Amino acid sequence: MNSVRIFSFLILIIFFMVTPVKAKDMILKEPPQSLSKYYPPKSKEPKWIKQMHKMSTHFGGIFVNLKEKDFENVDKHADKLVEEYQKTSEMVPEWEDYFDIKAAEEFAIAAKTHDIAKAGKASGKLGKTCGKCHAEQEVAVWTKFHWPSFHKIKVTDPISEKEMAFDDYMSKVSSSFKGVTVNFGEGQYNRSAKALKTFKSQFMELKSTCSKCHTTNDVKRFYVGKEADTAFTALANELNSEKPNPRKFWENIGLLGKTGCKHCHLTHRTYSFIQKTWKQVKE
Ligand code: HEC
Ligand code: HEC
Ligand code: HEC
Repeated sequence: MNSVRIFSFLILIIFFMVTPVKAKDMILKEPPQSLSKYYPPKSKEPKWIKQMHKMSTHFGGIFVNLKEKDFENVDKHADKLVEEYQKTSEMVPEWEDYFDIKAAEEFAIAAKTHDIAKAGKASGKLGKTCGKCHAEQEVAVWTKFHWPSFHKIKVTDPISEKEMAFDDYMSKVSSSFKGVTVNFGEGQYNRSAKALKTFKSQFMELKSTCSKCHTTNDVKRFYVGKEADTAFTALANELNSEKPNPRKFWENIGLLGKTGCKHCHLTHRTYSFIQKTWKQVKE
């Protein structure tokens, strides 16, 4: 095999490691309880991830060294890969079946022939065991261990000055938004203008929540930033004018709904939704 072919072969292996083998429905089950001991707060370090990095380094190390003809290190990485793979397979009993120790051993044997084509071929079977688990479990693990919870966040409503849970506050924001649009649709512009004031202050209050998870103020350019502010000003101008222009009104409502609500939901609500579903199953 020439080096171009070997290279494309490697790309193919990496491709298999990150993509599911066949198209199928995705089921997102909550990761097993036994995984929790390898993540904060139970473990100081994310031990599972460290284990992944070890395997990945040895896996990649084999090929880096085969290319460099540094065979001593090829053999070291091959032995370590089998050792770490075996160790990982014992960490989460519920996930034992994802591992194929024989495939790891066969790959190590092939690597030790120092024939890169043989090693490449034998790595496929092992790589697939990594890929299968990633396809089925990685997003679930991100949701459980990496995505902070909105359910613990409280917001103080600037209108009632009452503190409430984030999702209750969302319902409030949502109904004051409706107050603006429904009244406008009925031609009740004064009521719509009054609702707009409430809606604006409640919506902009969402700024106070960003710092619960984000450390930079820069993120506040999004959803609750200048675009929203400009849309609010344009809406107020329309509602206070002699004859409000429906086209301009709905244009700005659309802008708020999209860059204010929808864009935040697309990034933040997805994970929240999954977390909530897992919680409901348990209750
Ligand atoms: C039994 C399931 C399982 C198997 C088998 C598995 N992994 Fe993973 N792997 C995971 C999960 C879950 C994550 C996500 C961890 C996280 O983000 O907290 C992950 C993440 C990774 C990452 C990314 C780490 C990061 O910093 O985000 C690498 C690299 C990786 N695995 C390599 C491998 C290799 C190489 C193999 C096979 C030799 C393998 N994994 C086998 C479950 C598995
Ligand atoms: C419950 C925690 C939480 C809250 C509250 C929150 N975010 Fe995020 N947000 C995240 C996480 C987690 C990510 C993924 C990337 C990261 O960690 O920054 C993210 C990503 C983003 C991104 C994508 C770009 C980036 O930095 O990764 C933007 C923009 C953003 N958030 C803006 C906001 C704004 C504006 C607010 C307040 C109105 C907000 N977020 C409130 C958790 C949160
Ligand atoms: C900080 C980003 C963010 C912004 C901006 C935002 N939302 Fe949300 N919204 C969320 C998250 C996260 C949830 C899920 C909360 C949960 O799971 O408890 C949610 C949930 C909701 C819900 C469901 C509430 C419930 O009882 O479960 C409604 C309705 C809603 N949002 C409407 C809106 C509307 C309307 C706007 C714009 C005017 C908006 N949201 C702006 C993040 C945001």
